[in-house]
Amino acid sequence: MQTRLPRRSICLLGGTGFIGRHLASRLVALGHDVTVLTRARHRHKDMLVLPTLRLRQGDPLDPADLVSAMQGADSVVNLIGIVNERGRDGRGFHRAHVAITEKALAACRDAGVRRFVQMSALRADPAGSSHYLRSKGVAEQRVRESGLDWTILQPSVVFGREDDFINRFAGLLRHLPVLPLAKANTRLAPVFVGDVVAAAVRSLEEPRAIGQIFQLCGPRVYSLREIVRLTSRLIGRQRPVVGLSPTLGRMQARLMEFVPGKPFSRDNFLTLSTHNICDSGAPGLTDLGIVPTHLEPEVSRYLRIGAVD
Ligand SMILES: NC(=O)c1ccc[n+]([C@@H]2O[C@H](COP(=O)([O-])OP(=O)(O)OC[C@H]3O[C@@H](n4cnc5c(N)ncnc54)[C@H](OP(=O)(O)O)[C@@H]3O)[C@@H](O)[C@H]2O)c1
Repeated sequence: MQTRLPRRSICLLGGTGFIGRHLASRLVALGHDVTVLTRARHRHKDMLVLPTLRLRQGDPLDPADLVSAMQGADSVVNLIGIVNERGRDGRGFHRAHVAITEKALAACRDAGVRRFVQMSALRADPAGSSHYLRSKGVAEQRVRESGLDWTILQPSVVFGREDDFINRFAGLLRHLPVLPLAKANTRLAPVFVGDVVAAAVRSLEEPRAIGQIFQLCGPRVYSLREIVRLTSRLIGRQRPVVGLSPTLGRMQARLMEFVPGKPFSRDNFLTLSTHNICDSGAPGLTDLGIVPTHLEPEVSRYLRIGAVD
Protein backbone atom coordinates (compact mmCIF):
# COMPACT_ATOMS: atom_id res chain seq x y z
CA MET A 1 0.00 0.00 0.00
CA GLN A 2 1.38 3.41 -0.97
CA THR A 3 1.21 5.95 1.87
CA ARG A 4 -0.89 9.00 1.28
CA LEU A 5 0.40 10.58 4.49
CA PRO A 6 3.29 12.98 4.31
CA ARG A 7 6.16 12.02 6.65
CA ARG A 8 4.67 11.81 10.13
CA SER A 9 5.86 11.20 13.64
CA ILE A 10 4.03 8.32 15.31
CA CYS A 11 4.40 7.15 18.90
CA LEU A 12 3.74 3.47 19.59
CA LEU A 13 2.85 2.20 23.06
CA GLY A 14 3.36 -1.58 23.15
CA GLY A 15 5.40 -1.27 19.96
CA THR A 16 7.84 -4.00 21.04
CA GLY A 17 5.20 -6.75 20.96
CA PHE A 18 4.07 -9.11 18.22
CA ILE A 19 1.76 -6.68 16.37
CA GLY A 20 3.74 -3.59 17.42
CA ARG A 21 6.97 -4.79 15.80
CA HIS A 22 5.19 -5.51 12.52
CA LEU A 23 3.54 -2.07 12.68
CA ALA A 24 6.80 -0.28 13.52
CA SER A 25 8.57 -1.90 10.52
CA ARG A 26 5.72 -0.99 8.21
CA LEU A 27 5.58 2.64 9.35
CA VAL A 28 9.35 3.02 8.98
CA ALA A 29 9.18 1.41 5.50
CA LEU A 30 6.54 4.01 4.61
CA GLY A 31 8.96 6.78 5.59
CA HIS A 32 7.55 7.79 8.98
CA ASP A 33 9.41 8.59 12.21
CA VAL A 34 8.45 6.13 14.92
CA THR A 35 9.00 6.40 18.67
CA VAL A 36 8.46 3.22 20.69
CA LEU A 37 8.05 3.51 24.46
CA THR A 38 9.21 0.36 26.26
CA ARG A 39 9.76 -0.69 29.87
CA ALA A 40 12.83 -2.71 28.83
CA ARG A 41 14.84 -0.93 26.14
CA HIS A 42 17.81 -3.31 26.52
CA ARG A 43 15.65 -6.25 25.36
CA HIS A 44 14.58 -4.64 22.11
CA LYS A 45 17.73 -3.02 20.76
CA ASP A 46 17.40 -5.16 17.59
CA MET A 47 14.58 -2.74 16.63
CA LEU A 48 17.15 0.04 16.26
CA VAL A 49 18.13 -1.37 12.85
CA LEU A 50 15.00 0.42 11.65
CA PRO A 51 16.49 3.72 10.49
CA THR A 52 13.79 6.16 11.63
CA LEU A 53 12.85 4.40 14.86
CA ARG A 54 13.62 5.68 18.36
CA LEU A 55 13.36 3.34 21.31
CA ARG A 56 12.61 5.14 24.57
CA GLN A 57 12.88 3.60 28.00
CA GLY A 58 9.87 4.48 30.17
CA ASP A 59 6.87 3.38 32.14
CA PRO A 60 3.52 3.76 30.35
CA LEU A 61 1.91 4.45 33.74
CA ASP A 62 4.19 7.45 34.30
CA PRO A 63 2.69 10.66 32.83
CA ALA A 64 6.11 12.29 32.39
CA ASP A 65 7.50 9.29 30.45
CA LEU A 66 4.40 9.24 28.26
CA VAL A 67 4.44 12.97 27.50
CA SER A 68 8.13 12.89 26.74
CA ALA A 69 7.70 9.91 24.32
CA MET A 70 4.79 11.74 22.64
CA GLN A 71 6.60 15.07 22.28
CA GLY A 72 6.37 16.19 18.63
CA ALA A 73 4.21 13.20 17.62
CA ASP A 74 1.23 13.60 15.27
CA SER A 75 -0.41 10.33 16.35
CA VAL A 76 -0.31 7.69 19.06
CA VAL A 77 -1.13 4.00 18.62
CA ASN A 78 -1.75 2.09 21.86
CA LEU A 79 -0.96 -1.63 21.49
CA ILE A 80 -0.35 -2.41 25.16
CA GLY A 81 -2.21 -5.51 26.24
CA ILE A 82 -1.98 -8.72 28.23
CA VAL A 83 -3.80 -12.05 27.98
CA ASN A 84 -3.01 -13.08 31.53
CA GLU A 85 -2.34 -11.22 34.74
CA ARG A 86 -0.10 -12.22 37.65
CA GLY A 87 -2.96 -12.38 40.14
CA ARG A 88 -6.52 -13.52 39.56
CA ASP A 89 -8.68 -10.58 40.68
CA GLY A 90 -8.64 -8.51 37.50
CA ARG A 91 -6.42 -5.75 38.86
CA GLY A 92 -3.59 -6.63 36.46
CA PHE A 93 -5.98 -6.41 33.50
CA HIS A 94 -7.35 -3.10 34.78
CA ARG A 95 -3.83 -1.68 35.09
CA ALA A 96 -2.62 -2.86 31.66
CA HIS A 97 -5.78 -1.97 29.75
CA VAL A 98 -7.76 0.73 31.57
CA ALA A 99 -5.20 2.63 33.66
CA ILE A 100 -2.59 2.78 30.88
CA THR A 101 -5.21 3.88 28.33
CA GLU A 102 -6.39 6.64 30.70
CA LYS A 103 -2.81 7.84 31.24
CA ALA A 104 -2.07 7.67 27.51
CA LEU A 105 -5.16 9.75 26.66
CA ALA A 106 -4.25 12.35 29.30
CA ALA A 107 -0.67 12.46 28.00
CA CYS A 108 -1.96 13.01 24.45
CA ARG A 109 -3.83 16.09 25.70
CA ASP A 110 -0.73 17.35 27.54
CA ALA A 111 1.56 16.72 24.56
CA GLY A 112 -0.93 18.22 22.08
CA VAL A 113 -1.50 14.97 20.13
CA ARG A 114 -5.03 14.66 18.73
CA ARG A 115 -4.92 11.40 16.78
CA PHE A 116 -5.23 8.20 18.83
CA VAL A 117 -5.61 4.62 17.59
CA GLN A 118 -6.50 1.97 20.16
CA MET A 119 -5.69 -1.69 19.47
CA SER A 120 -8.54 -3.30 21.37
CA ALA A 121 -9.99 -6.78 20.90
CA LEU A 122 -13.06 -8.29 19.30
CA ARG A 123 -15.91 -8.68 21.84
CA ALA A 124 -14.38 -6.10 24.19
CA ASP A 125 -17.29 -5.22 26.44
CA PRO A 126 -17.56 -3.69 29.94
CA ALA A 127 -20.09 -6.48 30.63
CA GLY A 128 -18.02 -9.19 28.87
CA SER A 129 -17.42 -12.76 30.02
CA SER A 130 -13.84 -12.29 31.38
CA HIS A 131 -11.60 -9.73 33.06
CA TYR A 132 -9.77 -9.49 29.72
CA LEU A 133 -12.89 -8.58 27.71
CA ARG A 134 -14.33 -6.30 30.42
CA SER A 135 -11.10 -4.31 30.87
CA LYS A 136 -10.71 -3.96 27.10
CA GLY A 137 -14.34 -2.74 26.95
CA VAL A 138 -13.84 -0.14 29.70
CA ALA A 139 -10.65 1.07 27.98
CA GLU A 140 -12.66 1.54 24.78
CA GLN A 141 -15.21 3.64 26.71
CA ARG A 142 -12.39 5.90 27.91
CA VAL A 143 -11.13 6.30 24.32
CA ARG A 144 -14.62 7.11 23.00
CA GLU A 145 -15.12 9.72 25.73
CA SER A 146 -11.65 11.26 25.27
CA GLY A 147 -12.56 14.06 22.87
CA LEU A 148 -9.53 13.06 20.77
CA ASP A 149 -9.65 11.98 17.11
CA TRP A 150 -9.81 8.28 17.91
CA THR A 151 -10.15 5.02 16.01
CA ILE A 152 -10.64 1.65 17.70
CA LEU A 153 -9.48 -1.59 16.06
CA GLN A 154 -10.92 -4.88 17.32
CA PRO A 155 -9.02 -7.87 15.95
CA SER A 156 -10.11 -11.47 16.39
CA VAL A 157 -7.17 -13.73 17.26
CA VAL A 158 -4.12 -12.68 15.22
CA PHE A 159 -1.86 -15.09 13.33
CA GLY A 160 1.54 -14.53 11.74
CA ARG A 161 5.17 -15.51 12.20
CA GLU A 162 6.00 -15.26 15.97
CA ASP A 163 2.33 -15.36 16.97
CA ASP A 164 1.45 -16.85 20.33
CA PHE A 165 -1.56 -18.73 19.00
CA ILE A 166 -0.83 -21.13 16.12
CA ASN A 167 2.81 -21.47 17.27
CA ARG A 168 1.67 -22.42 20.76
CA PHE A 169 -0.59 -25.20 19.46
CA ALA A 170 2.16 -26.34 17.07
CA GLY A 171 4.57 -26.61 20.05
CA LEU A 172 2.05 -28.63 22.08
CA LEU A 173 1.23 -30.91 19.15
CA ARG A 174 4.92 -31.65 18.59
CA HIS A 175 5.30 -32.85 22.17
CA LEU A 176 1.96 -34.34 23.28
CA PRO A 177 0.49 -37.61 21.99
CA VAL A 178 -3.09 -36.29 22.49
CA LEU A 179 -4.30 -32.69 22.78
CA PRO A 180 -7.02 -32.12 25.41
CA LEU A 181 -8.79 -28.94 24.33
CA ALA A 182 -11.08 -26.69 26.39
CA LYS A 183 -13.76 -24.70 24.55
CA ALA A 184 -13.12 -26.69 21.36
CA ASN A 185 -16.35 -25.43 19.73
CA THR A 186 -15.65 -21.72 20.22
CA ARG A 187 -15.70 -20.00 16.84
CA LEU A 188 -12.91 -17.63 15.81
CA ALA A 189 -11.99 -15.72 12.66
CA PRO A 190 -8.17 -15.56 12.76
CA VAL A 191 -6.86 -12.41 11.13
CA PHE A 192 -3.38 -12.02 9.58
CA VAL A 193 -0.98 -9.69 11.38
CA GLY A 194 -0.17 -8.01 8.04
CA ASP A 195 -3.87 -7.12 7.68
CA VAL A 196 -4.07 -5.78 11.26
CA VAL A 197 -1.03 -3.60 10.56
CA ALA A 198 -2.52 -2.43 7.26
CA ALA A 199 -5.72 -1.51 9.15
CA ALA A 200 -3.74 0.58 11.64
CA VAL A 201 -1.85 2.33 8.83
CA ARG A 202 -5.07 2.97 6.86
CA SER A 203 -6.69 4.36 10.02
CA LEU A 204 -3.84 6.84 10.41
CA GLU A 205 -4.06 7.82 6.74
CA GLU A 206 -7.81 8.05 6.38
CA PRO A 207 -9.66 10.92 8.11
CA ARG A 208 -12.94 9.01 7.66
CA ALA A 209 -11.62 6.42 10.13
CA ILE A 210 -11.89 8.98 12.94
CA GLY A 211 -14.62 8.11 15.43
CA GLN A 212 -15.02 4.59 14.01
CA ILE A 213 -14.67 1.08 15.41
CA PHE A 214 -13.40 -1.56 12.95
CA GLN A 215 -13.82 -5.27 13.61
CA LEU A 216 -10.89 -7.15 12.08
CA CYS A 217 -11.57 -10.75 11.02
CA GLY A 218 -10.00 -13.19 8.62
CA PRO A 219 -11.99 -14.50 5.64
CA ARG A 220 -13.07 -17.77 7.34
CA VAL A 221 -14.61 -18.78 10.62
CA TYR A 222 -13.13 -21.87 12.32
CA SER A 223 -13.87 -23.67 15.54
CA LEU A 224 -10.91 -23.88 17.90
CA ARG A 225 -10.89 -27.64 17.25
CA GLU A 226 -10.63 -27.04 13.47
CA ILE A 227 -7.70 -24.66 13.97
CA VAL A 228 -5.83 -27.20 16.10
CA ARG A 229 -6.53 -30.00 13.58
CA LEU A 230 -5.34 -27.77 10.75
CA THR A 231 -2.15 -26.95 12.68
CA SER A 232 -1.63 -30.64 13.35
CA ARG A 233 -1.93 -31.41 9.63
CA LEU A 234 0.38 -28.56 8.62
CA ILE A 235 3.18 -29.70 10.92
CA GLY A 236 2.72 -33.32 9.84
CA ARG A 237 1.79 -34.60 13.31
CA GLN A 238 -1.71 -36.04 13.22
CA ARG A 239 -2.74 -36.06 16.87
CA PRO A 240 -6.15 -36.81 18.38
CA VAL A 241 -7.78 -33.58 19.61
CA VAL A 242 -10.10 -34.33 22.53
CA GLY A 243 -12.69 -31.66 23.33
CA LEU A 244 -13.08 -31.29 27.10
CA SER A 245 -16.42 -30.94 28.89
CA PRO A 246 -16.98 -27.52 30.57
CA THR A 247 -16.07 -29.03 33.96
CA LEU A 248 -12.85 -30.64 32.70
CA GLY A 249 -12.02 -27.50 30.71
CA ARG A 250 -12.33 -25.35 33.83
CA MET A 251 -10.17 -27.83 35.76
CA GLN A 252 -7.52 -27.72 33.02
CA ALA A 253 -7.57 -23.91 33.13
CA ARG A 254 -7.19 -23.92 36.90
CA LEU A 255 -4.24 -26.33 36.77
CA MET A 256 -2.50 -24.44 33.97
CA GLU A 257 -2.52 -21.28 36.13
CA PHE A 258 0.20 -22.97 38.20
CA VAL A 259 2.38 -23.78 35.18
CA PRO A 260 5.19 -21.20 34.75
CA GLY A 261 4.19 -18.61 32.17
CA LYS A 262 0.48 -19.39 32.77
CA PRO A 263 -0.16 -20.90 29.32
CA PHE A 264 -3.93 -21.07 30.00
CA SER A 265 -6.11 -19.65 32.77
CA ARG A 266 -9.68 -19.47 34.02
CA ASP A 267 -9.87 -15.98 32.54
CA ASN A 268 -8.80 -17.34 29.11
CA PHE A 269 -11.47 -20.04 29.54
CA LEU A 270 -14.09 -17.34 30.21
CA THR A 271 -12.87 -15.27 27.24
CA LEU A 272 -13.39 -18.35 25.06
CA SER A 273 -17.01 -18.58 26.31
CA THR A 274 -17.74 -15.84 23.77
CA HIS A 275 -17.41 -16.60 20.04
CA ASN A 276 -14.69 -14.38 18.56
CA ILE A 277 -16.23 -13.54 15.20
CA CYS A 278 -17.21 -10.28 13.49
CA ASP A 279 -20.80 -9.03 13.29
CA SER A 280 -22.19 -9.08 9.77
CA GLY A 281 -22.33 -5.56 8.40
CA ALA A 282 -19.93 -4.08 11.00
CA PRO A 283 -17.16 -1.87 9.55
CA GLY A 284 -14.10 -4.01 8.97
CA LEU A 285 -11.05 -4.70 6.83
CA THR A 286 -12.82 -4.32 3.48
CA ASP A 287 -14.08 -0.84 4.49
CA LEU A 288 -10.41 0.06 4.96
CA GLY A 289 -9.62 -1.27 1.46
CA ILE A 290 -7.93 -4.44 2.76
CA VAL A 291 -8.59 -7.91 1.34
CA PRO A 292 -8.40 -10.39 4.26
CA THR A 293 -5.59 -12.94 3.95
CA HIS A 294 -6.35 -16.68 4.14
CA LEU A 295 -4.86 -18.52 7.08
CA GLU A 296 -3.68 -21.80 5.59
CA PRO A 297 -1.08 -20.69 3.00
CA GLU A 298 0.40 -18.12 5.39
CA VAL A 299 0.56 -20.46 8.38
CA SER A 300 2.02 -23.35 6.38
CA ARG A 301 4.88 -21.02 5.37
CA TYR A 302 5.91 -20.03 8.87
CA LEU A 303 5.25 -23.36 10.56
CA ARG A 304 7.55 -25.05 8.07
CA ILE A 305 10.27 -22.45 8.78
CA GLY A 306 9.87 -22.79 12.56
CA ALA A 307 9.69 -26.62 12.61
CA VAL A 308 12.11 -28.27 15.05
CA ASP A 309 12.12 -31.87 16.23
N1 LIG B 1 -2.18 -11.07 19.37
C1 LIG B 1 -3.51 -11.27 19.28
O1 LIG B 1 -3.97 -12.36 18.87
C2 LIG B 1 -4.45 -10.16 19.65
C3 LIG B 1 -5.84 -10.36 19.43
C4 LIG B 1 -6.73 -9.34 19.80
C5 LIG B 1 -6.26 -8.16 20.35
N2 LIG B 1 -4.91 -8.01 20.54
C6 LIG B 1 -4.45 -6.76 21.15
O2 LIG B 1 -3.47 -6.16 20.34
C7 LIG B 1 -2.49 -5.50 21.15
C8 LIG B 1 -1.11 -6.00 20.78
O3 LIG B 1 -1.08 -7.41 20.95
P1 LIG B 1 0.29 -8.24 20.86
O4 LIG B 1 -0.09 -9.64 20.61
O5 LIG B 1 1.24 -7.54 19.96
O6 LIG B 1 0.80 -8.12 22.38
P2 LIG B 1 2.24 -8.45 22.97
O7 LIG B 1 3.10 -9.14 21.98
O8 LIG B 1 2.02 -9.15 24.26
O9 LIG B 1 2.87 -7.00 23.25
C9 LIG B 1 2.28 -6.06 24.06
C10 LIG B 1 3.30 -5.03 24.50
O10 LIG B 1 2.70 -4.29 25.56
C11 LIG B 1 3.66 -3.99 26.57
N3 LIG B 1 3.10 -4.47 27.86
C12 LIG B 1 2.66 -5.71 28.13
N4 LIG B 1 2.19 -5.77 29.40
C13 LIG B 1 2.34 -4.54 29.92
C14 LIG B 1 2.05 -3.97 31.18
N5 LIG B 1 1.50 -4.70 32.17
N6 LIG B 1 2.35 -2.69 31.40
C15 LIG B 1 2.90 -1.97 30.41
N7 LIG B 1 3.20 -2.44 29.18
C16 LIG B 1 2.92 -3.72 28.94
C17 LIG B 1 4.93 -4.75 26.25
O11 LIG B 1 5.94 -3.77 25.93
P3 LIG B 1 7.30 -3.56 26.80
O12 LIG B 1 7.54 -4.83 27.54
O13 LIG B 1 8.34 -3.27 25.77
O14 LIG B 1 7.04 -2.41 27.69
C18 LIG B 1 4.58 -5.63 25.06
O15 LIG B 1 5.58 -5.64 24.08
C19 LIG B 1 -2.87 -5.80 22.61
O16 LIG B 1 -3.60 -4.72 23.14
C20 LIG B 1 -3.77 -7.02 22.48
O17 LIG B 1 -4.71 -7.10 23.54
C21 LIG B 1 -4.01 -8.97 20.21
